[in-house]
Amino acid sequence: MAVMSVRLLPVLCLALLSLRGSAAYDPDDIALLQAAQVPSPYGSLWPLPQAVQISPDVYYIPPGEFSIVHGAGSTAGPTCVVLEKAFQRYYDYMFGYEQRDGRDVDASAPSSGRLLQLEVVITSKENECHKYPHINSDESYKLIIDDSGAVLQASQVWGALRGLETFSQLVYRDSTGAFTVNKTHIADAPRFSHRGVLLDTSRHFLPLKTIFLNLEAMSFNKMNVFHWHIVDDQSFPYQSALFPELSNKGAYHPFTHVYTPVDVRMVIEYARHRGIRVVPEFDSPGHTSSWGKGQKDLLTPCYTDGQPSGTYGPINPILNSSYCFMDELFQEISLVFADQYIHLGGDEVDVSCWKSNPDITKFMSEHGFGTDYRKLESLYVQRILDIVTKYKKGYMVWQEVFDNHDQLKADTVVEVWKEKDYQKEMAAVTAAGFQTLLTAPWYLNRISYGQDWIQAYKVEPTNFTGTEEQKRLVIGGEACLWGEFVDATNVTPRLWPRASAVAERLWSSKDTNSVGDAYNRLEKHRCRMRSRGVAAEPLYVGYCEHESLA
Ligand SMILES: *[C@@H]1O[C@H](CO)[C@@H](O)[C@H](O)[C@H]1NC(C)=O
Ligand SMILES: *[C@@H]1O[C@H](CO)[C@@H](O)[C@H](O)[C@H]1NC(C)=O
Ligand SMILES: *[C@@H]1O[C@H](CO)[C@@H](O)[C@H](O)[C@H]1NC(C)=O
Repeated sequence: MAVMSVRLLPVLCLALLSLRGSAAYDPDDIALLQAAQVPSPYGSLWPLPQAVQISPDVYYIPPGEFSIVHGAGSTAGPTCVVLEKAFQRYYDYMFGYEQRDGRDVDASAPSSGRLLQLEVVITSKENECHKYPHINSDESYKLIIDDSGAVLQASQVWGALRGLETFSQLVYRDSTGAFTVNKTHIADAPRFSHRGVLLDTSRHFLPLKTIFLNLEAMSFNKMNVFHWHIVDDQSFPYQSALFPELSNKGAYHPFTHVYTPVDVRMVIEYARHRGIRVVPEFDSPGHTSSWGKGQKDLLTPCYTDGQPSGTYGPINPILNSSYCFMDELFQEISLVFADQYIHLGGDEVDVSCWKSNPDITKFMSEHGFGTDYRKLESLYVQRILDIVTKYKKGYMVWQEVFDNHDQLKADTVVEVWKEKDYQKEMAAVTAAGFQTLLTAPWYLNRISYGQDWIQAYKVEPTNFTGTEEQKRLVIGGEACLWGEFVDATNVTPRLWPRASAVAERLWSSKDTNSVGDAYNRLEKHRCRMRSRGVAAEPLYVGYCEHESLA
């Protein structure tokens, strides 16, 4: 008996320890804190570049003498406003705050081993400065900092923007306060071409300032698509030139809670300057309650006991007038939004109202649809797809549109959002030859206690059964922040740094998956976002060097 109790004791203690652990400290947290004791060999780089070599040799940067310039042989010059503005922005992010505090920061830089310039060289003859970024934009770049100077080389301006962010992440202050950068070689390019953030401006209106700030935060994380879920059931803040009643009646407020045509242009231009595409979503036929307020007879009247009940369902798919309206609206949208793609939604269509309506029942039987309301939905979606095709736009859709076997164009992007069996869905969509985006495990509006960025970080988008060819159809993913419980007060801390985990998963190599090393870099990256004015929440216990900012 004595022997047994001795053998039992350690087991018991372990059990007690782990019980206590689960109450106060998650074992993951402890592992992370231990890992964080060892500095990352990659400093504070986020997302981690594809190939990085950082040496212990350092150069000192006297901010007053330092400049970012167009390098010899670059096909871009001072007329490239996107780069000129980025040079200013990054100079400020690296040195601005310290410059403003009035200290002579140059004095602290030793006189030898100084770096006075970063040369930016664009090599492509095709000048993209005045264009919009697109799905095939080249974001690759090379950054070399050594005895002969610092050179950032990129084929297109879009790669230069990513490289400027990387350079800014390499600059730090040494123990004497001198701005320092190590001798470094980086060759970098994104693993996936579509790295998005979805913001929802219907459940709550987001002021322009909030949208700008989050676009800026996206650029700190090398994310490149703003999926603007601009309208939904709750409100219609998009101010249409052709149909002003939509926002007059459908917005929370017709003047203060709308995006005017000028506002929309400003968002698109602000995003372009950061290499970010703006893909607007006009979700239909469901999720359209707010549309009905300003457009008579657009929505299906619902019936109870054979009488119109006064409530309305999805867009009425049996009226020609519905399609005339959608045609004109999408013509406008195609012109207002520069991107090649429009998101057409197509998710969560509730057919109960259609079932109750006698005109729809009659239409169903005339068309031989029986009681298969998916066929009616398909008929609607097909006509919308044809309209958008007519305006020379590509489309993105939620997975239901694929599941309903609609006739999709070959360049359609299918977005997989349902968490249950999402790996099977990715396999099915790619087996049918469509490009796909993963969002299912990245609904960041879901919150829980603890470090949930780790779950987001561990996702592998190509982890499904399929051929190499299928895996190549995964073009990326999106961090989604649905707006039911989110407005300008909490959108930024809820998104950052949790979306940064998605950003690294979509940019860095597949084998960049050490959670400990990620924690170490992300903690610093989060403090950097804060110092740049983004109210990014903490990952866990700890501190930032500049607590006063953001
Ligand atoms: C940069 O150089 C310093 C000084 O030699 C060294 O301590 C540090 O580890 C280097 N940073 C990285 C990320 O390698
Ligand atoms: C609706 O349009 C179709 C095809 O253009 C046409 O055949 C039909 O007569 C129209 N119906 C009504 C009620 O206008
Ligand atoms: C891939 O998915 C399977 C099944 O869900 C899971 O067990 C495995 O851990 C995943 N692997 C990676 C690398 O995500």
